[in-house]
Amino acid sequence: MSLPIPLERGRTQSLQEQIYRFIRDQILHGKYPAGTQLPSTRELADGLRVSRNTAVLAYQWLVSEGYIETRPGAGTFTRSVVSDTIETIERDEGLSARADKPAVVLKCTSPLADYGSGIRSQFDFWYGRADPRQFPTKTWSRLMWETLSYARSSLSEYGPQPGNLALREAIAEYLATARGFSASPDHILITAGAQEGLNIVTRLLVEAGTTIAVENPGYGAVATLFETAGATLLPVPVDGDGLIPDNLASHRPKLIYTTPSHQFPTGVVMSLERRQALLAMAEAINAYVIEDDYDGEIIYDRPPLAALAALDRSQRVIYVGSFSKSIGAGIRLGFLVLPPELIDWAVSLKSLASYGQAWTEQAVLAEFIRRGSFRTHLRRIRTLYRARRDALTDTLRDWLGPEGGISGSESGVHLMVRLPDHMPPAARISAIARQVDVALYTPEGAGTWEPGRRAADDRRLVFGYAALTPQEIETAIRRIRVRVDREAQEAG
Ligand SMILES: Cc1ncc(COP(=O)(O)O)c(C=O)c1O
Repeated sequence: MSLPIPLERGRTQSLQEQIYRFIRDQILHGKYPAGTQLPSTRELADGLRVSRNTAVLAYQWLVSEGYIETRPGAGTFTRSVVSDTIETIERDEGLSARADKPAVVLKCTSPLADYGSGIRSQFDFWYGRADPRQFPTKTWSRLMWETLSYARSSLSEYGPQPGNLALREAIAEYLATARGFSASPDHILITAGAQEGLNIVTRLLVEAGTTIAVENPGYGAVATLFETAGATLLPVPVDGDGLIPDNLASHRPKLIYTTPSHQFPTGVVMSLERRQALLAMAEAINAYVIEDDYDGEIIYDRPPLAALAALDRSQRVIYVGSFSKSIGAGIRLGFLVLPPELIDWAVSLKSLASYGQAWTEQAVLAEFIRRGSFRTHLRRIRTLYRARRDALTDTLRDWLGPEGGISGSESGVHLMVRLPDHMPPAARISAIARQVDVALYTPEGAGTWEPGRRAADDRRLVFGYAALTPQEIETAIRRIRVRVDREAQEAG
């Protein structure tokens, strides 16, 4: 007796696996009911022209998974098993699309909806990228193994809902020395990046009709988030000192959203006077201030200004932190520092949304900060990114001349450029850049919220430079420059 197994030699799947799969599928589909006798391994091997060893190994595999059993002196028989797979049912897509179903009540778009799906350009100036080549892989993997070795029940049970205590303590210590304010670990909530922090704040405090002051131009994803909750957005102008709070008194927003360390997208650092004026205004109109400090630890030319939260005397600043720019966006770790009256509500919301953050990454990050590796890493990337910033500003000045303007280059991982009037608008430059395999972004393309602005005549570009080396930056700009010059010559 043999079995009709259609073996294909030379496939990546071994012969033994093909035999195992065939018999397993027959059993699962009821073709070999429980108690069916199978050929002996010798008969099977002869029938299929495979080695005896191959047949023995395939049977041992089936025995170990409980599909068959050998009865001494009697032979090999199939067992009764419960299928662990289900039949795929062909769906009629046309019918499904036409069917009457409940409506989606929240329709929104994310700036990252198709991020990573397309082919990236050779040189990509996307504004928020940290350099993948600088990820501290060695230390991270060492810490990963170490933390796993003492994980015990941490991976099999839910963790503390505000986040690992060790991480909250490490963050509190870091904030005290690097951002100038003391926060109790009890007021810190670990999140999946700044974006989740912003989402939690939105859900806690925003309802239909809530007025929120948002920097104009500002961060598009947060504006969208606020709008999904029904907020009325109040655009607030930004100048060289940051958000101008003067007109807030008449609108009395409940929340003021700002990026004081490095305004998105202009890159302006909010001056100390403006910080004080903003906090005074928030006190006067009884508003919360959301301080989005998404890249505040990356500074080049001067000591960091303490966070807005450091000047806050009435505990009305909600501080949003992130490790996306300093370590990498893929680790999805950030945090909120909340006023006492909000923390429990925020923890409950986070808990309801996800039952907490993955333990391993938190434990690794806690050790990374605690052992001083974060500081070392920051020092290293600041030096490296400063050289990139210098390469970009030098190359741009050389190209654009004195009429070109650059803002926001003192810190962070992006800057904004104003093109001189004699050059084509930013959208055209960006299109030309694509032709030479360079991705450049207009503020709109970089996810900027700017109500009423006409994109067609925009003369600004947002450059993220941290992920490109000085040589790559120079090559990319040279390519665009040559192409733009050639186009100008052909036109004139
Ligand atoms: C201004 C601003 N806030 C928040 C975020 C979200 O960052 P995260 O990756 O920490 O969610 C970004 C991302 O680039 C950003 O630019």
